[in-house]
Amino acid sequence: MRPIRLVTAALATAALSLPLVVTPATAAPPSGHQAAPHSNAKFDRLRSAAPDGFHVGTAVAGGGHHLEQDYPDPFTSDREYRKLLGKQFSSVSPENQMKWEFIHPEQGRYDFGAADAIVDFAKRNKQVVRGHTLLWHSQNPEWLEEGDFSKEELRAILREHITTVVGRYAGKIQQWDVANEIFDEQGNLRTEENIWIRELGPGIVADAFRWAHQADPKAKLFFNDFNVEDINAKSDAYYELTRELLAQGVPVHGFSVQSHLSLRYGFPGSLEENLRRFDKLGLETAITELDVRMDLPANGKPTKAQLRQQADYYQRALSACLAVEDCNSFTIWGFTDKYSWVPVFFEGEGSATVMTEDFVRKPAFHALKSTLWDAKKAEEKDRKKGRKH
Ligand code: XIL
Repeated sequence: MRPIRLVTAALATAALSLPLVVTPATAAPPSGHQAAPHSNAKFDRLRSAAPDGFHVGTAVAGGGHHLEQDYPDPFTSDREYRKLLGKQFSSVSPENQMKWEFIHPEQGRYDFGAADAIVDFAKRNKQVVRGHTLLWHSQNPEWLEEGDFSKEELRAILREHITTVVGRYAGKIQQWDVANEIFDEQGNLRTEENIWIRELGPGIVADAFRWAHQADPKAKLFFNDFNVEDINAKSDAYYELTRELLAQGVPVHGFSVQSHLSLRYGFPGSLEENLRRFDKLGLETAITELDVRMDLPANGKPTKAQLRQQADYYQRALSACLAVEDCNSFTIWGFTDKYSWVPVFFEGEGSATVMTEDFVRKPAFHALKSTLWDAKKAEEKDRKKGRKH
């Protein structure tokens, strides 16, 4: 997959007065102080700070770029990582483990091991799962991309894959990214790159949603893409397409914005407005892959100003989602720099997640936690008020 180009919006972000402390992941409240509500054990977790029904998620590291690194599989081998994964988050997304090349490596052979382990982990930790992904132009196995299949065969292959994978996890996946990245920056379908659309025509997208719905009627089915945070040609294309599909009765339930952001560019200022227009169509919305990368200074360490600006981006993305009624799923693309895809895919950029490689919390982590906590308090207040009237 090629590096993502983000749209430049000349928007100067107001620096927030966020604390610049980096606290260890397991910090205890200072002795002699009364623990503030969000520093006691329970509220030391993003998942418990979140308002009721609002899910805070992360990608689960494994597969993809991790296979070329000199560490063992993070999910199965890193105890500290697993502990935080269970403790901090109420939603998990397999980073690569449900993609075609991973789960369906040979024709007629599936490899469910890693995906099953994540789904089991989620159950034990009372987490929901976001399935990712079923129809995409990238990370497809060679047998599929290079195979010499007729149109009828390809259609049967996709149908069988969706039925098998979605069916296997029926009832255990809250949201599925059914179609991933089907439009380019101009809002044109990726007809050349996407094997399904190229060979079978655009109608295959609706079929993918129908087959997924048959296999798991309870799962919410999403379109997912990058560079669609703002209102722009690409998000307009999704807006028109989802409108058409809904009018035809196709089971599309959600539109999600990946949100791979960079400090090189301004924050996508129309994010909330954009989510809201999809919400008004009757769709759920979600932030599914948030990270905020930056150009690292020569010593490889972000400056305080960079960390502050990064926290601001994280907070604004979360606030936009919290402000939109049916945006109830907010996922970051990994929570530690130790396993981030960013340095591998974006030369010179890094430090994109909310914790350092040693699991030390950055200002972005604190910003997320306090924003969630404020939203939870506001919601409880509203509920009480509602009861009185
Ligand atoms: C990335 C993974 O993080 C890497 O491990 C992998 O090597 C490549 O893909 N959009 C998506 C995600 O939908 O699946 C991508 O994940 C990041 C961009």
